[in-house]
Amino acid sequence: MSNIQNRVIVVTGCSSGIGLATARLFLERQAIVFGIDVGAVPQKLADTHSTFTFHQADLTSDQAVEHAIAKCIGKHNRIDVLVNCAGVSDGWSSADTIQDEEWERVICINLTVPIRMMRAVLPAMKEQKGGSIINVASKAGVSGASAGIAYTSSKHGLVGATKNVAWRFHTDNIRCNAVLPGGVATNIASSVQMEHFDSAGFNSFFPTVQLHVSKDSEGTPVPVIGVDDVARGIAFLASDDAKMINGALIPIDNAWSTI
Ligand SMILES: NC(=O)c1ccc[n+]([C@@H]2O[C@H](COP(=O)([O-])OP(=O)(O)OC[C@H]3O[C@@H](n4cnc5c(N)ncnc54)[C@H](O)[C@@H]3O)[C@@H](O)[C@H]2O)c1
Repeated sequence: MSNIQNRVIVVTGCSSGIGLATARLFLERQAIVFGIDVGAVPQKLADTHSTFTFHQADLTSDQAVEHAIAKCIGKHNRIDVLVNCAGVSDGWSSADTIQDEEWERVICINLTVPIRMMRAVLPAMKEQKGGSIINVASKAGVSGASAGIAYTSSKHGLVGATKNVAWRFHTDNIRCNAVLPGGVATNIASSVQMEHFDSAGFNSFFPTVQLHVSKDSEGTPVPVIGVDDVARGIAFLASDDAKMINGALIPIDNAWSTI
């Protein structure tokens, strides 16, 4: 992939799922990766790649974003790419059941944190006269039928923020795009807080997701999209091959976006 070698790339949510696959792919392509996660260090990456730095932080904490970016710039002097990947699922609550605590949790990590991350990296990107930001949104960023109200609103918000940043900074040679994955097998189900699980909301969503998955021999739904499929889309958007792609929303969902 063109011009990724030696680029300084920040990946949030690098300990699991799509973020882990993305960090690994960039490292395999000889980039310098600064990974952030509230979870444990991805030990295999740390052991295999000297160009990987791990910063453990709950990005929703006060000043956590600013501290992380200051540490990255202190170490590498620049930031070429930001991948906003850390995120959580809601419990499919709807407008009639959503609790304030659940709303604030999901909006904070899925929307407020990515915006704070963009605010934190933009000064360096402006000074360098270039950069690329990739926001990991979702099919739920453009559909009302694939998640609960908090997750859906957070990802719609992230889509709007992506377009706003793309337009506002296009003359600074800074690009901002989003990927919209369909269902991917990761650990995201572990972020569902069962006290906020809304079975009516889930039952309304489930037929939509069934249109888009495969089934195992026992009829259990199995996602067809892998973490590496999403990582390759992110890496393309980060690269100079996508240098005139700015403000785009790229579905990675094997045509689920067509319905
Ligand atoms: N898995 C899917 O089906 C799917 C579909 C569409 C979009 N997405 C999006 O992909 C992104 C990655 O999710 P995933 O599926 O790989 O899930 P995952 O749970 O495997 O990974 C998410 C990572 O984010 C980290 N994280 C969560 N809260 C954090 C916080 N406060 N501070 C720092 N790190 C935090 C977690 O520790 C975890 O390592 C999310 O934004 C998610 O909304 C996932």
